[in-house]
Amino acid sequence: MSARKGIILAGGSGTRLYPITMGLSKQLLPVYDKPMIYYPISVLMLAGIREIAIITTPQDQDQFRRLLQDGSHWGLHFTWIEQPNPDGLAQAYLLAEDFLAGAPSAMVLGDNIFFGHGLPELLQTADAATERATVFGYHVSDPERYGVASFDENDRVRAIIEKPEVPPSNYAVTGLYFLDGTAPERAAKLKPSARGELEITSLLESYLVEDRLDIRRMGRGFAWLDTGTHASLLDAGNFVRTLQTRQGLQTGSLDEIAYTRGWIDAAQLAESARKFGKNDYGRHLMSLLRQDGPV
Ligand code: DAU
Repeated sequence: MSARKGIILAGGSGTRLYPITMGLSKQLLPVYDKPMIYYPISVLMLAGIREIAIITTPQDQDQFRRLLQDGSHWGLHFTWIEQPNPDGLAQAYLLAEDFLAGAPSAMVLGDNIFFGHGLPELLQTADAATERATVFGYHVSDPERYGVASFDENDRVRAIIEKPEVPPSNYAVTGLYFLDGTAPERAAKLKPSARGELEITSLLESYLVEDRLDIRRMGRGFAWLDTGTHASLLDAGNFVRTLQTRQGLQTGSLDEIAYTRGWIDAAQLAESARKFGKNDYGRHLMSLLRQDGPV
């Protein structure tokens, strides 16, 4: 088990998806057959992380807890943390300081969805670099909507700029950050930006100036899906549906990952599968059990 701990940042106001997010947190919305937050949790699980802090707004936390409980049915352990105001992504490290207790971390934004062959291996490389920071660059057509990496002539990252008007490259920095144990003390030194937030790009900058930041590119075989607009949310759902229907396999199934990693046994998986009854998700879990013999 990795000593690295996980953080899911699932607060924020979700105003870009109003009116749907007026009554429900964005990260609880469906992406085809699963709540959005399942997908980022699956990324942490694929990185071998089982100790996870989930940061939500105070008003939404009950709903998240009802959905995810304490995580033990997936062999995980969840710690619940409130973020009273959306004061920036880097604030997560201040809120999670006690939880992390000096451990390296992997933080993933609750609305980021990753899919791709070789994802576990990519995550393991980042996990192994416990004294450094690792982020992931993904080629997009609209980099101005994200944190964007600029590279020098030797292809080394020179800067990461938040939503630049003139993007220095097409490489967006995804919402997945592997940082070392010093992240909270670095975050404590940050000042709010002009828009009043503790910026993740400023935190990354502190690693960059010490030459301790690596950016790994997620190549074209990966999908990093956006859920920031009504259209892209629907596209993400359709992507998951297309993939799962064609393959007859699941993406973002916490039950399946927990089982295949040996974090839960067949009896526990059977209990979950029964809960989902005869829908496709439950049927898929049942088929995993059949492959392994009767329970
Ligand atoms: O998705 C990747 C991008 O995420 C990065 O490329 C950017 O560098 C990073 O700043 C972020 O950009 P966004 O424009 O997506 O940030 P947004 O304010 O929408 O917040 C992202 C998620 O984090 C969203 O689901 C809400 C949540 N959040 C946000 C803030 C500011 C919190 O939980 N707490 C917060 O304080």
